[in-house]
Amino acid sequence: MDRVAIVTGGTRGIGEAISLALKELGCKVAANYAGNDEKARAFTDRTGIDAFRWDVGDHQACLDGCAAVAEKLGPVDIVVNNAGITRDGVLAKMNFDDWNEVMRINLGGCFNMAKATFGGMRERNWGRIVNIGSINGQAGQYGQVNYAAAKSGIHGFTKALAQEGAKFGVTVNAIAPGYIDTDMVAAVPAQVLEKIVAKIPVGRLGQAEEIARGVAFLCSEEAGFVTGSTMSINGGQHMY
Ligand code: CAA
Repeated sequence: MDRVAIVTGGTRGIGEAISLALKELGCKVAANYAGNDEKARAFTDRTGIDAFRWDVGDHQACLDGCAAVAEKLGPVDIVVNNAGITRDGVLAKMNFDDWNEVMRINLGGCFNMAKATFGGMRERNWGRIVNIGSINGQAGQYGQVNYAAAKSGIHGFTKALAQEGAKFGVTVNAIAPGYIDTDMVAAVPAQVLEKIVAKIPVGRLGQAEEIARGVAFLCSEEAGFVTGSTMSINGGQHMY
């Protein structure tokens, strides 16, 4: 599959697994990252995948970053909006910055990346956008009004943009991961996480590669009839 793909937050965690899965499909992959140059360099050394630094919450930075990728690798056919942060806390303790940063990066990032790439996909009559939502955007989660709102927004964004892309061969889908064995989940207090894992019917955390396989399918040539859908990959924790 000779396509150019950008994976936001693509150098670590679920993003790294997605970058690798798309490379395995034959794509030329650009892995975006926000700040950790050292980890990004180590990622490139390990995988041979180019890493590009910009903040997905910054509109102009996305336009410039996507242009830089296109200049180096060619027109962008696939975007995986994976970059995301948590700023967990109950509403009483959450400040406006905690709310705003999560909305700016997790949801705003999807808009910014689509603005930078959707037009070109439409003109070339082929494109794939996969947005990484969350079980917590579907079901809500104590201590996450910001994150749950942003991830829920991603699911609405996906269905709306899918309708705009359909007649141009551009599919837009979401994946809603459950609790995956990453740094983000490792930051949940151990006694809280233990209770969450006890509610996962499969009986364990997911692996990043289990999300990446879903993304690879949605990006494939064969998935052209799948659009506006949400694939839940959560070990049966939330069936909906
Ligand atoms: N339901 C009901 N009550 C809960 C609860 C829950 N799920 N979690 C905590 N509480 C209660 C506690 O029992 C406690 O009650 P009491 O005061 O009566 O004893 C009260 O809330 C305060 O709990 P904490 O001591 O934990 O409060 P805190 O202010 O120190 O921390 C928190 C609150 C930050 C929300 C913490 O509980 C937490 O980090 N929870 C995990 C949130 C979570 O799951 N985040 C997911 C991150 S990973 C991710 O987001 C990836 C993805 O997409 C899945």
